[in-house]
Amino acid sequence: MLRFPEGFVWGVSTSSYQIEGGAPDDGRGRSIWDTYCATPGKVANGDDGSVACDHYHRYPEDLDLLRTLGASVYRFSIMWPRVMPEGTGRLNEKGLDFYDRVVDGLLERGLRAWPCLYHWDLPQALQDRGGWTNRDSASWFADYAAVMARRLGDRVEKWVTFNEPSVSAWIGHEEGRHAPGLTDPRAAVRAAHHINLAHGRAVATLRDLTPRAGVGFVLPIHKARPLPRFAERDAHLADLFEDKWNGVFLDPVYFGRYPASLADRFAEHVAPGDLEEISRPVDFLGVNHYFPSYVEAASGEAWPFRHAEPPFYFRRTEMNWAIDGRAFYEALMILKHRYRNPPVYVTENGGAFLDCVQADGRVDDQDRIAYYKDYLANLHRAMAEGADIRGFMPWSLLDNFEWARGYDKRFGLVHVDYRTQKRTPKASFDFMRAVIAGNALPGGQF
Ligand code: FCB
Repeated sequence: MLRFPEGFVWGVSTSSYQIEGGAPDDGRGRSIWDTYCATPGKVANGDDGSVACDHYHRYPEDLDLLRTLGASVYRFSIMWPRVMPEGTGRLNEKGLDFYDRVVDGLLERGLRAWPCLYHWDLPQALQDRGGWTNRDSASWFADYAAVMARRLGDRVEKWVTFNEPSVSAWIGHEEGRHAPGLTDPRAAVRAAHHINLAHGRAVATLRDLTPRAGVGFVLPIHKARPLPRFAERDAHLADLFEDKWNGVFLDPVYFGRYPASLADRFAEHVAPGDLEEISRPVDFLGVNHYFPSYVEAASGEAWPFRHAEPPFYFRRTEMNWAIDGRAFYEALMILKHRYRNPPVYVTENGGAFLDCVQADGRVDDQDRIAYYKDYLANLHRAMAEGADIRGFMPWSLLDNFEWARGYDKRFGLVHVDYRTQKRTPKASFDFMRAVIAGNALPGGQF
């Protein structure tokens, strides 16, 4: 049995647009994801987040599930346009009240609140002003952070500024597979820098207004590999991939500069003093990790590489993501070796599988349990080798709106029937409950 150290933090992650629904309710403004979903052909089945898991109305039941699971921390996100419909200026009291109730509900149930200020749902009104490509976005975000700090700061244990800024920048602005759906490599670099700057300004604001709360950000840490047959030829491309996906967001925070390989691309967007703002110390790094990343050479594109299909020998999830706990271990060790071993909480990890409710009402998701056994064993190994990892949060509590993949892809420990909104804890929920209760990877069947 693999035991975790005393005090290891077990939590769960969710995000606002993926679960809340309540789209027109109580004065919530539109976000870039409302717009993206309404654009034909962008999201599978034409799905959108207008109802989702109806968490906006059913949150007490969902908070009860967190308690049943035994989680001590809940990482959720705040929908910026729900609390500031135009993104700046006017506040929406009813939206703020909702997050008050969620935080109070957590504390009543003995959980700690770790709100994330940005899990991709930028107010559309700000996108209309250029969104993250507008340098003013850094101040818009800091002002919004101040609003939330004043409102929730007395009850928040840790703040997360951004979830996966790399995905916002690269997938949202270069690949166009996420809102706002741009395919402009230069705009993506610009957006990446402004998001970093927004993070730095928000760190200052949050420290100022809530000096006792911790502050950090969340990044998917990629371990990139060349395809085995091009191992030597493409090794440098794997390094460049890691610079683009990890380094662009870690190096400015931890070292006060962009990776040398990319400094030229960023130079035109960086003003004097920016890197000092971005490198303000953070208390922790949230790490998301799902799959190994393979690269191959490309020509005539914005980058000299592209995503490659992983070798055939990996098993895949329903997202077609390769399953490889060793890549998780390797990603965690990158942080230990290259970034001086910062305090880390794994804030997302999990898989989408074909979950069916059986005739007896059970959802017997053994493949998800196998996935977690593999990944948790590799997490344990990284810790045994000295990586400073302090907690783990599965993605996710509930099945939810999986962005451009819509509702077909299910990541939850709890199954959601979207017709009735009935919640059914899966076998993996019982597994995770046993992990948390024992603070160890248990043997036996679930
Ligand atoms: C991460 C996102 C999260 C979820 C998982 C599957 O990139 O942060 O919202 O969609 O992937």
